Amino acid sequence: MILRAENISKKYMRKTRESNFFYAVKQAELSLEPGKITEIIGRSGSGKTTLLNMLAGLLAPSEGKVYLDDQDLYALSDKELSRLRNRTIGVVPQGQTGLDSLTVLENVMLPRLLYEKDPDCSKKAWTLLEKMHIKEIADAWPRELSGGELRRLAIARAMITEPCVILADEPTGDLDDENTAAVLALFKEIAEEGTAVLMVTHEAGARQYADYIYRMDGGSLSQVSGEARIEDIGK
Ligand SMILES: Nc1ncnc2c1ncn2[C@@H]1O[C@H](COP(=O)(O)OP(=O)(O)OP(=O)(O)O)[C@@H](O)[C@H]1O
Ligand SMILES: [Mg+2]
Repeated sequence: MILRAENISKKYMRKTRESNFFYAVKQAELSLEPGKITEIIGRSGSGKTTLLNMLAGLLAPSEGKVYLDDQDLYALSDKELSRLRNRTIGVVPQGQTGLDSLTVLENVMLPRLLYEKDPDCSKKAWTLLEKMHIKEIADAWPRELSGGELRRLAIARAMITEPCVILADEPTGDLDDENTAAVLALFKEIAEEGTAVLMVTHEAGARQYADYIYRMDGGSLSQVSGEARIEDIGK
């Protein structure tokens, strides 16, 4: 499946000197392909999370469209959209998340139990916990976890449904070198299995994994490297 943003913009009402609104994202074009890792870099406040949320089906663009293959995401009803999203798109949100009334293991299993009615997903969950080095704390509660442990929990949870597309917002944000390497290795592994991966990152070490790198600057997205660049050279 290909997730494609066609000229998407997000307009927010906020007073600036010139007007009462501004564009957090301006006419972004992006296509996420199976088996490819795409990275977005850019300064704080440049619009990266806003773009990711629009791609995830979580935030409707003010202009433009997001397609999953031929399906216009925001033409669906809320119910249809959340069903499609939960089956096909895994999101690792920025910041720290985790349902407090569930253990680490239950948090990881939850999406698969809810959306796929798959009571037998604990093996997959344990594998992810092991890869994210949080197996030892499977029975702990999210409030007992460090920032980096919560981050790795969110990554395991995004992957439990084996989505076609993973959208990860600074997935290595709070992590040390060893855990950063583990996370990047897991992203590479799922890309090799055919998942389309998008990562917002400040991690210089992540660049070597990327097939395409984009920069977000004041809401404008531009490609800085990648295969598509080769086509541009002849122009
Ligand atoms: N709901 C909202 N209403 C108004 N402005 C918003 C809203 N959400 C985000 N913004 C603004 O849009 C801009 C882009 O925000 P966004 O969160 O996408 O940036 P970012 O690139 O992800 O930054 P960071 O690296 O700090 O996470 C910022 O100026 C932010 O203040
Ligand atoms: Mg952000």
